[in-house]
Amino acid sequence: MCGIVGYTGYRDVVSVLLKGLTNLEYRGYDSAGIALRDDNRIKVYKSLGKLINLKNEIEEKKHELKHPTSGIGHIRWATHGAPSLVNAHPHTCTCGNLVVVHNGIIENYKELREELIKKGCKFRSETDTETIAHLMADEYSKTKDLEKAVRNSVKRLQGAYAVCVMHKDVPDVIVGARKHAPMLVGAGEGENFIASDTPAIIEYTKKAIYLDDNEIAVITKDNIKITDTDGNILHKKTEILPWEPVALSKLGFKHFMLKEIHEQPDVIRNVLNGKIYDIDGPVILNEVKLDKEILKKLNKIEIIACGTSLHAAMVGKYIIEDFAGISVEVEASSEYIYRKTTTDSSTLVIGVSQSGETADTITAIKQAKEKNAHVLIITNRPDSNMARLADSLIPVNAGIEVSVAATKSYTAQLISFYLLAMHLAEIKETLDKTYLKNLKHELIQLPTKIEEILSNTSGIQECARKFSSYKNFIYIARGINLASAYEGALKLKEISYINATGYPAGELKHGPIAMLDETMPVLSILIPGGISYDKILSNSEEAKARNAKLIALTSSCDKNIDMLFDYVLRIPDISEILSPALTCVPLQLLAYYIAEFLGKDVDQPRNLAKSVTVE
Ligand code: G6P
Repeated sequence: MCGIVGYTGYRDVVSVLLKGLTNLEYRGYDSAGIALRDDNRIKVYKSLGKLINLKNEIEEKKHELKHPTSGIGHIRWATHGAPSLVNAHPHTCTCGNLVVVHNGIIENYKELREELIKKGCKFRSETDTETIAHLMADEYSKTKDLEKAVRNSVKRLQGAYAVCVMHKDVPDVIVGARKHAPMLVGAGEGENFIASDTPAIIEYTKKAIYLDDNEIAVITKDNIKITDTDGNILHKKTEILPWEPVALSKLGFKHFMLKEIHEQPDVIRNVLNGKIYDIDGPVILNEVKLDKEILKKLNKIEIIACGTSLHAAMVGKYIIEDFAGISVEVEASSEYIYRKTTTDSSTLVIGVSQSGETADTITAIKQAKEKNAHVLIITNRPDSNMARLADSLIPVNAGIEVSVAATKSYTAQLISFYLLAMHLAEIKETLDKTYLKNLKHELIQLPTKIEEILSNTSGIQECARKFSSYKNFIYIARGINLASAYEGALKLKEISYINATGYPAGELKHGPIAMLDETMPVLSILIPGGISYDKILSNSEEAKARNAKLIALTSSCDKNIDMLFDYVLRIPDISEILSPALTCVPLQLLAYYIAEFLGKDVDQPRNLAKSVTVE
């Protein structure tokens, strides 16, 4: 949520900042801006809306620039203050000499603002961020030391921040500080970077130093200094980033979302790699650091997550209870943190997050840790804050996901849950050996089955075209695919802005049925051989009787449903228990093609951000 990049070095500063912001655009796109130290001045350029507007603006004003050697940039996802030019970052102090960009929320900004106004500061925006600029400028006026000014100021900030600061009188120095919002320093030769996330810098360097809370980085082109807020020097480890710049290219696909959907077979192979060597042998999940004896006695798991990760967690609950007989609660992180939970030292708490930076989930995890629970994190970002809080960590290895709507990370989370559930079942000896063997066999075949779906998407495209003019959709399912219905509906909402809601099929008659008529398509997910197949069929009949248009998502062997349904989407035959890993693919594609037919901005849907770092 919001993206920051800072650079000082020998390259063209404007290009580095704009490239960095382009790679961070998934974090927000309400406005964008950069500040450059050029010609002994701080020059600020901002634009409303997407980054392209800023690029055009800078192109027009290029002649104003002499030779900038350092700069900071920001893309915004609005929290305090509407998306407007005046609220866009960077923000400066009254005289314009000190400039900041900021991610996060400053909770005590109103008090600070009042205090600074009394001191004569002139505020221009409605943002909490502008307060930081005035506060730091006030501190700088006392000490004439930028690093000290930042140190003194951050001690007064309450809330969350990743902040980057420059001052006209301190050439080519960028100071960064963080608390509860991610920030890292990229180390180069004769150049250094600072950013809120790795994609901003991977085209230039693979060496990164991650800042922890209450740490401050001072970078020049030849030096990186990290201190705590009292100025004590810290010797931090330089890590090598696992990402390749090619991950940020569309590789010929029209959108990142489509590319990422197509990556799913390889993502699953990656997740399974090294975990199942032999279908007769056990699942190798050394990542789970809990003692086997403790796992054997474990009788309660809580899974916390948001958005798409929450839907993966629902599948996780189903299979852990089914395979291992352990009771599992699933809860949205934003709900978990505001109630008295029964979490204690005998609870295994699993946090699921693509980004590993979702503020609600981080807070929930911290609360669980305070209650001495063992915390297992399933994330696509082993370099994230959440991963750092983990007692056990399962990295899902889906590679960088650029499209705001999560696809391949969801499948990777599902597969990780299957592995975990089988691992628990093996330890607790709750599943029959032949059943486990068949399950592993089928799991290994999943990538090929997804390839089969992806090799011919014309039916899904035709269905999307037929249904793209409808304003409302209902998705129904029962059992393990209920999460698929929620996730399919969420994908459609996110990228096409069509009102789509998932319901347990049995609940349709308890209210939602009142909405049904010919304007409301109902998509039913039903797997032949599944425990609730017949029931879902009956629920679909009930919808048909109310004139709803019906779409079925079923498997190839289901030959008897063409009469009832207006449109049938098929996946290769699969057992119901593993089917969520396949049903998600046509649902992702259906949402994708509907949004595409409607001309929506598929990769960057309005109002959304990929990583939500505010509660
Ligand atoms: C945002 C994104 C969603 C994502 C959710 C949880 O709302 O737009 O796509 O599912 O955050 O993110 P996480 O990184 O924790 O999985």
